[in-house]
Amino acid sequence: MRDSNQPAWNTVWEDSSLGLVDLKLESQPDTDKLSPVIARGKLIRTLKNAYSGELGAINAYTGHRKSVSDPAEKMMIYRIELEEIYHRERVGEILSILGEAPSVPQDRTMGWIGKTLGYLCSLSGWFAPMYGAGLLESRNIKEYEDAAEYALVAGYVEFLDDLLTMAEVEWEHEKFFREKCRSHFLYHWFPKWQTPPARETIRAPFIGIEYPEGLLSSTMNAEILVLCSATRKGIQCCWEGDFR
Ligand SMILES: [Fe+2]
Ligand SMILES: [Fe+2]
Repeated sequence: MRDSNQPAWNTVWEDSSLGLVDLKLESQPDTDKLSPVIARGKLIRTLKNAYSGELGAINAYTGHRKSVSDPAEKMMIYRIELEEIYHRERVGEILSILGEAPSVPQDRTMGWIGKTLGYLCSLSGWFAPMYGAGLLESRNIKEYEDAAEYALVAGYVEFLDDLLTMAEVEWEHEKFFREKCRSHFLYHWFPKWQTPPARETIRAPFIGIEYPEGLLSSTMNAEILVLCSATRKGIQCCWEGDFR
């Protein structure tokens, strides 16, 4: 269980050069006080939010990928997009195992928000989409960490590895976008989200708990590597082809 004295790192804003500080704190899930039934309800709600959030991210990254001109950035955003597709599929499967279905209205709304953001990427310049993506990814880490804690309390240890893998992948996404933002002069003028703690801290609260290996990590990594290397060949041969 996470230490209740630990700060809610991803919602505390660092002091920016403008002196802006937003201290709006999201509460940590106090899982010590949760019954398995309540934890199950919170797990389902978190997964439904994540499922629709992933669709928003997929649509936004499609537009973001098309808006950048640097081949390395394009490739990395494509990889992130693929990882979000795998996340959404797995979250949908977990919901189905729990006897639940995603929220159709929520899915539709997030899909449209993502499409709109993706379209705006081509109009808003390089920095804004990188900044927005980094901010959102920092929140995605916490979403999957929370889901893992709820799953543990609710007795679904079989989902732990996949939920923690998704939190780790979101950690990598946040790092990529934060480092991109840091390379731009506008970064110094924008409020900063707090840098997540080390990647290892994601699994640290679960050390000592025996949970089975998940399905996501090996299949996702193997299949995405094949897709990305195939696309890389496409980029070298015909950069202006289908993959834009
Ligand atoms: Fe994701
Ligand atoms: Fe992500």
